[in-house]
Amino acid sequence: MERIVYISTCRTDPDRDMVQDILRTSRRNNRQDDLTGLLVVGGRRFLQVLEGPTAGIDAAYERIKADPRHFALVELSRRPVAARAFAGWNMGCEQIDGEDMTGLVDRLTEKLGDATLQAQFRSFVALHRTAA
Ligand SMILES: Cc1cc2nc3c(=O)[nH]c(=O)nc-3n(C[C@H](O)[C@H](O)[C@H](O)COP(=O)(O)O)c2cc1C
Repeated sequence: MERIVYISTCRTDPDRDMVQDILRTSRRNNRQDDLTGLLVVGGRRFLQVLEGPTAGIDAAYERIKADPRHFALVELSRRPVAARAFAGWNMGCEQIDGEDMTGLVDRLTEKLGDATLQAQFRSFVALHRTAA
């Protein structure tokens, strides 16, 4: 099992309908491919964690890269993991706009037990805060 983390930039301000549409498709596909993860939406930035069997990750990431709704995908990490951090979430979602950032990071990182991933979430939130 592997976990991949990437960030990307949305072409437009992602409104509720777009995020719901992404989640609907993601949850359907990810359930089929045994993938779990989390999508964080901060302004125009996406940060996504996907975990599961290598073949499923490869297929999903190819689809995601080809999606014209976002661009400038940067793979932050990809590595084998022993256990899922987001078991049971075919795709969780957090919107960080207008929310208390500290509270959000604490809630997210509580689930992780992975120092590298935790650092990535923290820097994503910090970046978004300074960019806003
Ligand atoms: C930020 C973002 C995250 C996405 N995450 C996933 C995902 O986790 N799984 C997935 O199958 N598709 C995801 N998608 C959607 C894919 O890019 C693609 O539109 C979809 O998988 C096509 O599926 P379909 O051919 O079954 O309609 C994401 C798209 C965006 C913009």
